[in-house]
Amino acid sequence: MTIAPLQALPLDQLRRRSSTKWRTYPEDVLPLFVAEMDFSLADAITARLREAVELGDTGYTPPDPGIRAAFVGYAQRRFGWTVQPDRVRSTCDVMMGVVEILRAVLAPGDRVVVAPPVYPPFYDCVEEAGGVVERVPLIDVDGSWRLDLDGIEEALAGGARAVLLCNPHNPTGTVHSKAVLARLAELAAAHGAVVVSDEIHAPLVQPGVAFTPFLTASPAATEVGYTVTSASKAYNLAGLKCAIMVTASEQTAAVVRSLPPEVEWRTGLFGALAAVAAWDPASDAWLDALLAALDENRRLLARLLAAHLPEADYRMPEAGYLAWVDLRELGWGDDPAGRILREARVALNRGPTFGAEGKGHVRFNLGCSPEVLTEAVHRIAALVGR
Ligand SMILES: Cc1ncc(COP(=O)(O)O)c(C=O)c1O
Repeated sequence: MTIAPLQALPLDQLRRRSSTKWRTYPEDVLPLFVAEMDFSLADAITARLREAVELGDTGYTPPDPGIRAAFVGYAQRRFGWTVQPDRVRSTCDVMMGVVEILRAVLAPGDRVVVAPPVYPPFYDCVEEAGGVVERVPLIDVDGSWRLDLDGIEEALAGGARAVLLCNPHNPTGTVHSKAVLARLAELAAAHGAVVVSDEIHAPLVQPGVAFTPFLTASPAATEVGYTVTSASKAYNLAGLKCAIMVTASEQTAAVVRSLPPEVEWRTGLFGALAAVAAWDPASDAWLDALLAALDENRRLLARLLAAHLPEADYRMPEAGYLAWVDLRELGWGDDPAGRILREARVALNRGPTFGAEGKGHVRFNLGCSPEVLTEAVHRIAALVGR
């Protein structure tokens, strides 16, 4: 059965939004940068939040707002992952969960492996936790991005204490294979290190691509792994502040239980209510329609670039709504997004903020209408007279 793609809201409505995507640049700029999407919320989320607003239900988040049961059901349904409810704890956002877990497992100055190019806050959050970033860049294997397991092994053998994994990977949209994740777990276990797996983009893995929750990759993964995730990216709830930390062994669960009570207390009530509605089966049809829209857009970008900017090197993401594009052949320097913003009035994410490997690259946000994406590429192509 073909699923009708979700339609984005029209630009005049989007410009009334008050979030970062719509309030950072003037109106003549098309914003395709920060990871917010241009669609309406899933109906079940709108209804739940509307009810809460009407009741003035804006107090503190209770000990269990239903997130655990909702996530357990969701993980089983969407990923075939059996999660124990008492191993799910909430916090206010994914990056805070990552920071607090790292802070609990690291001694000051311990090294943490990250795989650039990667979501820029990964660098800051390692530092915030008292760690030091050890960069082991992704490698290009036959046209696909992969973790450099030999490089990670060397880093762990040299004393790195943790790996901060992006699963699926932002900005390349890579979905790591089960075999790669199992080997990563084995390496971490052999060297007494932990793996913190940020799985915020997991609901956005395209049909036909096999996603492996890190904690299910192997018996070793259950021992060394911590997963941090949320409904915020796939369901566009980033401002509502709710994420979860999931563990699968007694030892890792004890670490999460030992975090200061404030870590859980900072969960936003609207975020929790919205997450419960997002993870309910009632929102599955919305997610499938979103995936259909993102699938169309990732293919549309390939066609647009081939037709108007053939110098661009783009590999379609296997997950998510972010597209990593290499513009080095255009000769626009290390930071092409600067020129594109100034002259084409399109805001993209700047490649070098993802690490040195991002020089000459940009990141597009595909969570928009096909018309906006088309207009953005036309504006950029006009800079080279096309
Ligand atoms: C990989 C990754 N992790 C975390 C986040 C941010 O999550 P949060 O706002 O819950 O910290 C993003 C946002 O785009 C992301 O791409």
